[in-house]
Amino acid sequence: MANLAVFASGNGTNFEALAGALAPTRHALVCLVVDRKDAFALRRAEKLGVPSYVVSYKGKRREDAEEEMLAILASRGADYIALAGFMRLLSPRLIDAYPSRIVNIHPALLPKYPGTQGIEESYRSGDRELGITIHYVDYGLDSGPPIRQQSFTRSGAETIDEIESRIHELEHHWYPRVMIEILDAHDSGFPCGVHPRRVETEKGDVF
Ligand code: GAR
Repeated sequence: MANLAVFASGNGTNFEALAGALAPTRHALVCLVVDRKDAFALRRAEKLGVPSYVVSYKGKRREDAEEEMLAILASRGADYIALAGFMRLLSPRLIDAYPSRIVNIHPALLPKYPGTQGIEESYRSGDRELGITIHYVDYGLDSGPPIRQQSFTRSGAETIDEIESRIHELEHHWYPRVMIEILDAHDSGFPCGVHPRRVETEKGDVF
C-alpha cells in the first residue's frame, strides 16, 4: 500500500473524488493540507474523516511554511502528494523531498493556459479542443512532464459554467484513476510510477 497526501486551496471537489476512489483500495489518503483556513476542502475532510491541516503562508517565508508541511507529511507517512487546486508554487526544497512523487491536475491542455485561470483562459481562447492535464510537478508553473491529457470538442454554444462542469467531470473521473495507477505501481517496485514519462492523450467522450 502507499499513502497519499492531498494539497488544496479551495473547494476540494478533486480531493473528495480522490478520497472516495481510494477508500476501497489498499492505499490510504492520509491527510489534507490547505494553505487557507477558509478552504471548503476542510469541511469535506471533516465529513470524510480525513485528518486535515492548515498551513498558512501569511507572514512567513515559503520555505518555512513548507517545513511545516514536510513535518506533517512525515508524521502522516505520506509517500505521494496530489495537488488538487493548490494555488501556490512549491519550492525546490519540497519538490526534491518527493522526487517524481508530486502530481498536479490542471484544467487546461498544457502547455496552454498555465496558472490559476486555466478554465477562463481556455474558454475565452476560442480553441475547439479543451481539456485537462495530469502531470508530475517540477520547479516551474504547471510545466512538469504530463502523464495524461483528456480533451473534448466544444460546440461553441456552451456557457463558461457548462465548460467548467465538463472539465470538472473529466477531472473527477481521471485524477483518481491516474493516482491509483501510480500508487499501485509503487507497490510493484516502481516508486516513480510505471510510466513516469508516458503521455496518454485521448480525445472525445470517454464515459
Ligand atoms: C481544479 O479545476 C484544478 O484543475 C484547478 O483548480 C480546481 C480546483 O477545484 N487547478 C489549477 O488551476 C492549478 N493550476 P477543486 O478545489 O474543486 O478540486
